[in-house]
Amino acid sequence: MLPNFCNWLSNTPLSMKIQTVLWIIPAVQTIHILCVAIVMSTMAMLDFRLAGVTGRSQPISHAVNRWVPWVWGALPVMLLTGCILIIGEPTRELMNPYFRTKMALLAIVVVITAFVYVRNKKEAYWESRAVAAKFAGAFSLLLWIGIVTAGRWIAYY
Ligand code: HEM
Repeated sequence: MLPNFCNWLSNTPLSMKIQTVLWIIPAVQTIHILCVAIVMSTMAMLDFRLAGVTGRSQPISHAVNRWVPWVWGALPVMLLTGCILIIGEPTRELMNPYFRTKMALLAIVVVITAFVYVRNKKEAYWESRAVAAKFAGAFSLLLWIGIVTAGRWIAYY
């Protein structure tokens, strides 16, 4: 089913355009990678604060409100650029175990980030749960590192 879908998609006029206009894929990948830099730098700042490694001069609640909006802003751009890359090369992406692993890890970390963000609306929620905050920070950072690794390895499958 999926190979047929990939074959159909790669023969659509939109996919042919993405494949044949030489600057589209490099330009879209560049925007995607710039967003990787935004997401990884802001999430590292937050996860190290949650884990109590850095930034202890400011309350966790401030760090959550400061850094998470950057991720909420970057993810839609990554989804759009990612979809353009998928439409341009559907078999390379959708049939790729690294791509699927990346999307699975991304789904988990988005749920964790949303949980941290929503719970943070309760006064001093994470300040009074240091162990849970440490676990959330460490697990989230591991997931983001996994996403970047799987994303980079897509090209080598
Ligand atoms: C939001 C949904 C996302 C989609 C649909 C998506 C999709 C893609 C696709 C199709 C590629 C091209 C792979 C290739 O052909 O080589 C790619 C590359 C990549 N993605 Fe994503 N991605 C998303 C989010 C993310 C996030 C959140 C991160 C990390 C924070 C990320 C990190 C990467 C990296 C590191 C690469 C390799 C770039 C390169 O070396 O050229 N992606 N992504």
